[in-house]
Amino acid sequence: MEVKEATGRLGVLLPGLGAVATTLIAGVEAVKKGIAQPIGSITQMGNIHLNRKSGNNYPKIKEFVPLANLGDIVFGGWDVYEDNVYVAASRAKVLEQHTLDALRPELEALKPMKAVFDKSYIKNLDGTHVKEGANKMVLAEMLMEDIAKFQDTRGCDRLVIVWCGSTEKYIEPSEVHATLAAFEKGLRESDPRIAPSMIYAYAAVRMGIPFLNGAPNLTVDIPAIVELAKKTETPIGGKDFKTGQTLMKTILAPGLQARALGVKGWFSTNILGNRDGYVLDDPDNFRTKEVSKLSVLEDILRPDLSPELYNELYHKIRINYYPPHGDNKESWDNIDIFGWLGYSMQIKINFLCRDSILAAPLVLDLALFGDFAKRAGLSGIQEWLSFYFKSPQTAPGQRAEHDIFKQLTVLQNTLRKLMGEELVNPEGLTYAEEEITA
Ligand SMILES: NC(=O)c1ccc[n+]([C@@H]2O[C@H](COP(=O)([O-])OP(=O)(O)OC[C@H]3O[C@@H](n4cnc5c(N)ncnc54)[C@H](O)[C@@H]3O)[C@@H](O)[C@H]2O)c1
Repeated sequence: MEVKEATGRLGVLLPGLGAVATTLIAGVEAVKKGIAQPIGSITQMGNIHLNRKSGNNYPKIKEFVPLANLGDIVFGGWDVYEDNVYVAASRAKVLEQHTLDALRPELEALKPMKAVFDKSYIKNLDGTHVKEGANKMVLAEMLMEDIAKFQDTRGCDRLVIVWCGSTEKYIEPSEVHATLAAFEKGLRESDPRIAPSMIYAYAAVRMGIPFLNGAPNLTVDIPAIVELAKKTETPIGGKDFKTGQTLMKTILAPGLQARALGVKGWFSTNILGNRDGYVLDDPDNFRTKEVSKLSVLEDILRPDLSPELYNELYHKIRINYYPPHGDNKESWDNIDIFGWLGYSMQIKINFLCRDSILAAPLVLDLALFGDFAKRAGLSGIQEWLSFYFKSPQTAPGQRAEHDIFKQLTVLQNTLRKLMGEELVNPEGLTYAEEEITA
């Protein structure tokens, strides 16, 4: 398989220039200026083990795989509020003001394009920087014009889109999402079951631009967009960035399961006070997030295989809007486990995290890997990027993999395979024998 080189500029377009997106943009600008490090991004800081007999067996991923350089990234985006990125980042209060001030000219220059928005999908937002069009197909065409204009004026060779917009209300896939023909008819008729995020996804995928979804909305996780992605040979992926509490869950649960320890209950609660928290304060929007977060434990613990350990599992998740905490989400987990002869134990986690600090490097990696996937000729659902998502999109009928360590192995083996390297054999014995005979 030949992977095309990452020559020229990469345009990274972000629908939703809120806390996560502005933290990413300011972060990349700070790294470019040499005033900060891209911590948490495995494309920038991670290494990969290669099964080579000689030479560097642990190169940096960015040295092993042809990824776009940060210096070649050009950002753009849409929002329902007119604030430029400097103002939006200052409002979000994730990064310290002196850091933003050091980057002010670059951030101020970045102004959002008018959004495709529908208040019925997000009741708690009231922005007016919004496109108007005769129907949803017209709105999709307006987005395609935005994208083409951006590419032209900013001199981008390639583009990638990562949805960083708010969580939309909960909807289930229905017949309008079932085929491309039904979806396009639905766009022309402004079917209310087509969410704004799906209109962005349609516009991008029709143009062959990779689209990754950081929110729990369906967006690209509908047969119509999967069909379009195959037709236009476009990589897609989602959904919901895996940060904070779910990150901890998918680190800890595989360990408990590996040691055949039982789990009776897992109660998770959060407080957060950013705009994301405000949007999730609406029960329809919270439901979308709840469904995304709930799938994780069952898939890792597999009560179907070990009913004696996990059949009783009670999993409860709460998110509470609490303005004083801003973006500094605090989460508590109470985990009731049991061990030898059924004796019970408890684990408590109190994670004082920073939501957007955890999410920003994921957006960067998804943008770079999405672009890489396109250059490698991959298309459709990119399951190898499940590592980044709370609720990974899979082919129909496939189980999602949630175990973060297995997800990492899949990601790294995909990179090895695409780069023509041997897959790393997980059999310890084979390694030991090779060492001895070498
Ligand atoms: N921060 C995290 O750790 C994390 C983790 C997982 C998922 N997410 C998801 O990422 C998304 C962004 O999070 P955030 O903290 O930046 O939220 P935020 O509220 O700060 O930013 C979202 C932005 O999207 C804009 N927006 C909403 N609908 C839009 C539309 N149709 N078109 C263009 N812009 C639109 C809003 O105006 C807002 O500025 C949310 O969906 C959130 O649930 C965040």
